[in-house]
Amino acid sequence: MLEAVSRPSGTASSFFGWCSRMSKFLMATYNRLPVTFARGEGVWLWDTAGKRYLDALSGIAVCGLGHAHPAVHQALCEQAKDLTHTSNLYRIGIQETLGETLTTLSGMDKVFFCNSGAEANEAAIKIARLHAHNRGIEYPAILVMEASFHGRTLATLSATGNRKVQAGFEPLVQGFVRVPYDNLGAVEAAAVNRPDVVAVLVEPIQGEGGINIPAGDYLNRLRELCDRYDWLLMLDEVQTGMGRTGHFFSFQTNAIQPDVITLAKGLGNGFPMGACLAQGVSAQVLGPGTHGTTFGGNPLACRVAQTVIETLRRDRLPDRASRMGDYLRAGFERTLSNLEGVLAIRGRGLMLGIELDRPCGDLVPQALAAGLLINVTVERVVRLLPPLIIEQSEADLLLQELSSLIRRFLQLPPDSNAAAG
Ligand SMILES: Cc1ncc(COP(=O)(O)O)c(C=O)c1O
Repeated sequence: MLEAVSRPSGTASSFFGWCSRMSKFLMATYNRLPVTFARGEGVWLWDTAGKRYLDALSGIAVCGLGHAHPAVHQALCEQAKDLTHTSNLYRIGIQETLGETLTTLSGMDKVFFCNSGAEANEAAIKIARLHAHNRGIEYPAILVMEASFHGRTLATLSATGNRKVQAGFEPLVQGFVRVPYDNLGAVEAAAVNRPDVVAVLVEPIQGEGGINIPAGDYLNRLRELCDRYDWLLMLDEVQTGMGRTGHFFSFQTNAIQPDVITLAKGLGNGFPMGACLAQGVSAQVLGPGTHGTTFGGNPLACRVAQTVIETLRRDRLPDRASRMGDYLRAGFERTLSNLEGVLAIRGRGLMLGIELDRPCGDLVPQALAAGLLINVTVERVVRLLPPLIIEQSEADLLLQELSSLIRRFLQLPPDSNAAAG
């Protein structure tokens, strides 16, 4: 059993002090849960009172190697001892090494390093626009999907298919045409009606949108349409990449070659790091002065990312993600699929969703109280993104604890759930 924890460490006065300090100094961009973590190891986190939690979220698909991985620790310390940052005004040896590693692994030609997923997608959007202008298209458009998520900068929130993310930030950035996800007919219709389209930006599996998995040949057919209409195929692998779905990159399931790939999250295992990879003509469009970043690809970030990749490969963690993902999915099928209220159990590798027939955000604090970190997205989908290093015994604990929480949640009348934690 996981240990029960219902409130943050310390006395009532320290709890209220903690709350008021948070609201006094931090912008209210998050509804934070009442817990502060002090340390981690593998799939486990400990809060400031010493209680232990099984982390089935990995900081939202970031810590694929788990917490406090010794190889990451060593890379950070050794690199920080020698050199943290210079500038992209100079050559950076480890950036070139990491560039070679990533392009070789992905079959792409070149990479631009940045600090986050949104920035990686900004680079992709700029590549598509510049490429279009080079071809004489003055007002190019990018095809994007309903229920997608691409980030919080102005261009990436405009590309995102979620009104909540966009509301209040109008005027949005122009130049995006939206179609339903996993609907090739809609893409074909856009091809006919919108000659200004020059690229498609799409997640191989939608994460924030509810772990939406398209038809098995969706990306292959999209690749064909992009070839037919001379569009760039740009894959947002920010959440699906770095081994999470069973291959190093999710598109490798389909054996296609995209024109642009964006990465972040698991690339630095918690050290902020993003990348935009491109091949063919897309790899040639950015030149000196067209794009840049102060921090992106600095020696510290690149050393960590190179170590993360070497560790993922050495320990065959994409294979493990595939195996453990199948194990967890089969387990949840066994424990939950017959329950009224459970609509679907889906996922690929360690990117899993359990869709309920009702809003289930209350499960998050209930799980926290039970010592388990989970997430709920689009109100009704329990999202699991555990570290790729998860052991079978830990997966068993996750299965057991989450299944009984969901069972209990579905048995309670809807408005009593808030109090059930
Ligand atoms: C698919 C996808 N793209 C882009 C982003 C944005 O990444 P970041 O928060 O690092 O800017 C996210 C974040 O959740 C994501 O899931």
